[in-house]
Amino acid sequence: MAKKNPHSTTPPHERAFLVGAEIRGAKQQLSLEGSLAELALLADTAGVDVVGELTQKLDRPNNVTYIGPGKVDELKALAEETLTDVVIFDDELSPRHQRELEKALSLRVLDRTALILDIFAQHAHTSEGMLQVELAQYEYNLPRLTRAWTHLERQAGGGGGAAGSTGGVGLRGPGETQLEVDKRAIRKRITHIKKELEKVEEHRTRYRAQRKRSRIPTVAFVGYTNAGKSTLLNRIAKSDIYVADKLFATLDPTTRRVELSGNEQALFTDTVGFIQKLPTALISAFHATLEEIAEADLLLHVVDISHPNALDQYQAVQDTLKEIDADHIPMVTALNKSDLLRNPENAREVLKAFPKSIAISAQEGTGVKELIHLIREELYESYSPIHVRLPYQQGALISLFHELGQVELVEHERGGMVMHGRIPGRLLAQFTPWHAKPVEERQMLNNHIEEDDLEEE
Ligand code: GTP
Repeated sequence: MAKKNPHSTTPPHERAFLVGAEIRGAKQQLSLEGSLAELALLADTAGVDVVGELTQKLDRPNNVTYIGPGKVDELKALAEETLTDVVIFDDELSPRHQRELEKALSLRVLDRTALILDIFAQHAHTSEGMLQVELAQYEYNLPRLTRAWTHLERQAGGGGGAAGSTGGVGLRGPGETQLEVDKRAIRKRITHIKKELEKVEEHRTRYRAQRKRSRIPTVAFVGYTNAGKSTLLNRIAKSDIYVADKLFATLDPTTRRVELSGNEQALFTDTVGFIQKLPTALISAFHATLEEIAEADLLLHVVDISHPNALDQYQAVQDTLKEIDADHIPMVTALNKSDLLRNPENAREVLKAFPKSIAISAQEGTGVKELIHLIREELYESYSPIHVRLPYQQGALISLFHELGQVELVEHERGGMVMHGRIPGRLLAQFTPWHAKPVEERQMLNNHIEEDDLEEE
């Protein structure tokens, strides 16, 4: 995002002015101030300096400029005064809003989504991460494409031929404008990236199946950005993953094998940090990475308990988990950064609100042993009730149930068997495709059918 300065080796940071609007009655996870503070942190992470903020309460967004015309004038004057290079809105702007604001302010206008995309582009390292970001950038930019691609100069994911470059877009067909040629080239590139991502996903699915066969349970770290997930994984696995007081320092999932005790092990996976107003384009672009979460045996939710918005952040993560159908997976909560609490007694109070939770400090190591103990218990000792109908071809699962579970009832049916009992929570996911109704429900259902049949007779 920074401009080049011919006289200096380190380019000066761009100067950004932030704008937040509160739409009355709209569902907000954070307060206007909280959300703007987070936007400032995002701007800092992207490498821009925040020079001012402006807010407005609105009944509904203005059709043309999102904020009211009077506010636009005020913003223009403030931006001139503060030598602003770029204006960043906290909410997602429609392509029209963005265009009109740029015209009225004679300045570059971005929104939260573009900023997050920019940060993701800086932090993606694996080819999959880069492809995902590139795809999200193209999808975001396509409807915003006007004459030239003026406001995304950085190349997506650091890779070549990405969202900001007009190079090599192909020949113009008869009657086609340059804009149409550009759009056609982007659509083609989007199709290509999607195909590439499908291949990566196939590989990932195979790898996951292999991991399942190895029967080592997986624990996925989830948490709001900057909660301390990487620090905790480093502490638990004694590895040296990149840790930074920046948002989204981790973008690509990292997996480590950890000895829990004796010969009991688990695979721990760090995942991308969550954030409120996570752009929808990003959720779908990160589909494969998020699937890693949905397939885990246990979720470890890391919460920065010292943060003033800790509860809202917790809720934002829970909401995203629901969106990706991962809210049914057993969860343990680590209330991190407890070393920053002025009164540790408060932690005890807060703990009551979270089932299966422990206050820890990933940085200092306090509580981490107890956390591992709790994870081991969840994975290896907590049994969940299960009712499955398994075809005989699923011999491996049938013997797994007998070997590691507690079988309470078996009914033989044509082609397979219905099994009821309890199995360790970590094995639940493997049986999901074969779920059957619990025995009492099945009996009730059968009774109903019999009664109905009788009535008909
Ligand atoms: P994302 O990559 O954004 O998802 O972040 P993350 O959740 O992986 O957080 P990370 O481990 O990068 O830590 C963020 C910041 O919090 C770093 O500056 C850490 O040093 C700091 N931090 C992590 N754990 C603790 C802790 O227990 N106490 C204190 N005081 N700081 C911590």
